[in-house]
Amino acid sequence: MLKNHWTILRKQYALSVLKVVFDMCGIVGYIGNKEAMPVLVSGLKNLEYRGYDSAGFAIINKRIIIEKDIGKIDDVQKKINASLLKGFSGLAHCRWATHGNVTKENAHPHADCSNKIAIVHNGIIENYSELKEKLIQKKHVFRSETDTEVIAHLIEEFHKKLGFEDAVKNALKEVKGSYALGVACAEEPGKLIAARNESPLIVGKGKNGMFLASDIPALLEYTNKFIYMHDKEIAVITKDTINIFDLEGKKKSFKISTLNWSKEAAEKGGFKHFMLKEIYEQPRAITETIDERLKNGDVVFEKELNLTDDEILKIDSIKLIGCGTSWHAALVGKFMFEELAKIPTEVEYASEFRYRNPILKPNTIVMAISQSGETADTIAALKEAKKNGAKTISICNVKGSSITRVSDGVVYTRAGPEIGVASTKAFTTQLTVLYLLTILFSKKRKTLNDKQIKDMIYGIRKIPLQIASVLNEDFEVVNCAELYHKRTNSLYLGRGVNFPIALEGALKLKEVSYIHAEGYPAAEMKHGPIALIDEHMPVVFIAPHDIYTYSKILGNIEEVKARGGIVIAIATEGDKEIPKKADHTIFIPKTLYTLSSILAVVPLQLLAYHIADKLGRTIDQPKNLAKVVTVE
Ligand code: M6R
Repeated sequence: MLKNHWTILRKQYALSVLKVVFDMCGIVGYIGNKEAMPVLVSGLKNLEYRGYDSAGFAIINKRIIIEKDIGKIDDVQKKINASLLKGFSGLAHCRWATHGNVTKENAHPHADCSNKIAIVHNGIIENYSELKEKLIQKKHVFRSETDTEVIAHLIEEFHKKLGFEDAVKNALKEVKGSYALGVACAEEPGKLIAARNESPLIVGKGKNGMFLASDIPALLEYTNKFIYMHDKEIAVITKDTINIFDLEGKKKSFKISTLNWSKEAAEKGGFKHFMLKEIYEQPRAITETIDERLKNGDVVFEKELNLTDDEILKIDSIKLIGCGTSWHAALVGKFMFEELAKIPTEVEYASEFRYRNPILKPNTIVMAISQSGETADTIAALKEAKKNGAKTISICNVKGSSITRVSDGVVYTRAGPEIGVASTKAFTTQLTVLYLLTILFSKKRKTLNDKQIKDMIYGIRKIPLQIASVLNEDFEVVNCAELYHKRTNSLYLGRGVNFPIALEGALKLKEVSYIHAEGYPAAEMKHGPIALIDEHMPVVFIAPHDIYTYSKILGNIEEVKARGGIVIAIATEGDKEIPKKADHTIFIPKTLYTLSSILAVVPLQLLAYHIADKLGRTIDQPKNLAKVVTVE
């Protein structure tokens, strides 16, 4: 019994290490009338946010040529022999690992013993060691330490007796775990196979061929027609055809979605980094998110929410789940739902929710918030909620992503593609959706009167212009970045609806500048963090004028100043008190208290960006981070 317990624990540990080391990658595939390499390189560069430790290419041209190495795609291109990579069909991969195992051998693509099968993979093969043992007994020779290589050899084993497609299907029936796969076979060069289970994968239909990729930005230059693959599906693509099957070989119907994201939307458009571009896109992103949802002085969610008036009236509680920045948005949502719509609301990390036995009453709504719609923990939490009979709604930025497919209702944030690893415009559009839902719920449940609803609608309509004015007047933010970019610690303090903004400001700084930062409710400072304050410590106060806690925050500012700390305050235009006390005041326009969080986060995003830029950080691809966390 005890031995069994330890075996399970060891296995879990091994798997958790494996999950950290071998996942979060980008894959691209092309088959068509054009040279494949330029398509693969440009597609992969648009996926570099998913992984940038190593990269590789396979071209299928009678035989399979694989070239790969460690480093970013630009470096890898310099190291490999590109003249060998000529052909009209190929696969490419960029890899992400937090530590260790970044070697040329472990870079993808991987091949079987005879170099007839090439494979690129994002995900984790959980039973890879058992499969590897069996394959070694059958004399297969492994060249890497990855779980992925097992699939190449497994397909090779089945291919001894079966055709390419059947070999892939049979191999995948033996595989446990998550995968987005691109597979090629030298004996059938006119075909690529894509397969998905719990890792994002799309197939693109273009005029000059077909594509596969982990994410949309990889393909926007070539097509806006996509098929979102489902779990346990295989797509067989040739230059002119797409066919989708289940693992039993049964043909499945599929829908081609046309997306109106432009190629330019996924490019930097003259900005130094995607993060900066995306910060500046917020007025447009919010306009598009509210557009069509505000009609004749009312909030309209058409059918997307999938809740009847009766169901809205009966909601007895809401559980908001998400990770990282999306979890911060959930905290703002809780404040608004409780304060205005009077609905008891709890916020949980998706990663915790999925492993508890949360109490879900018949009229509990579980709302998942996710930019990508592919965060593994959030998908799993949502599935758990659904299994327990809860009605589920997702707030998501990516059409057709996994989270949207497991939700009863979906409200899209219309932020457009977010490429920078640090989430910015996705966050403010999430807050916008939560605010619109608050108006809807408050109106239907009659917790606010007509005048209050009118003021809220008027308030959100003004937000895009107000953000534009914050962006225009960034002088003091840039000044603070110049003065304090060499500090090694900082505190972010806020209260009420702006406590989550303190958390978000600190997260942004950590992510892109690698400076240690902590967010706290301002009043908690005296219960511990105050011990850290001295003349080296910048303290950022989010202190817009409000009727609730403004005077208390003034007191907290005094406490920091009395201990020699440096105070950077976000205050409401016209505030005369804060500039007298703070070392630096960054003003945001006057708005409703609940909307102040959408405005206050913008200077904090800019502060993190400018500090990171001054430190020369790789802002769009911070070390150890990945845009889409498709593993636990
Ligand atoms: O795509 P999601 O919103 O589900 O992602 C959740 C987090 O991984 C994400 O917000 C992460 O914290 C960002 N890097 C924050 O900038």
